[in-house]
Amino acid sequence: MAKVISEGIGAFSQHYPRVATIVTAQAKGKANAMAVAWHSVISVNPPLYGVSIAPKRFTYQLIAQSKEFGVNFLPFEMAELVASVGGSSGREIDKFQKFNIALDKPVKTAVPILKDAYAAYECKLVDDKLYGDHRLLVGEIVAVHWLEEAFTPEGTLDSDRISPILYLGRDVYLTTSKGTVRSLSREVYGKIV
Ligand SMILES: Cc1cc2nc3c(=O)[nH]c(=O)nc-3n(C[C@H](O)[C@H](O)[C@H](O)COP(=O)(O)O)c2cc1C
Repeated sequence: MAKVISEGIGAFSQHYPRVATIVTAQAKGKANAMAVAWHSVISVNPPLYGVSIAPKRFTYQLIAQSKEFGVNFLPFEMAELVASVGGSSGREIDKFQKFNIALDKPVKTAVPILKDAYAAYECKLVDDKLYGDHRLLVGEIVAVHWLEEAFTPEGTLDSDRISPILYLGRDVYLTTSKGTVRSLSREVYGKIV
């Protein structure tokens, strides 16, 4: 089938699905949480994580002031919370109170860590640069909180126990199906001719 080729790009959404996270921050006694789907590992050594955040977000103000942020990974059962913190602004409400968000204590920063997260990173901001209409914030991961039983002994997410929140854009969410995991050795597959 012939593909459509667009050159007037406008909004593009072919890259979805992405794992939806909740990014947290606090500064001067104000704490906040927002949904973030645009994020990535940048480096393993040193451990760097990047999040793409529009400068108009209230969360951005808090990160710019405190130079810290948290990235929280939640199970699919918590997708409604992602939609809630992604559909409201900390400028108007205290999201932790309004959405009844339980917290764990951070260890190396002051960022809120969500109790329901199966994993969370505490990050110290090392770079903050504007690209178009978003800022790429790069943080060094200084502490990782993770639920041991959510991961296999090899360290990958145990999809029999945790269904990640995948975001398709336009307020549509989906998750993985059990039994669909395939282990494909790159050693083996890299040699297939
Ligand atoms: C699933 C989802 C993913 C989102 N991803 C991003 C993102 O990657 N970057 C961004 O700037 N905003 C993103 N947003 C929008 C913000 O979460 C939203 O504007 C939020 O209300 C900002 O809150 P704040 O003003 O309290 O910081 C996303 C929203 C949703 C629902």
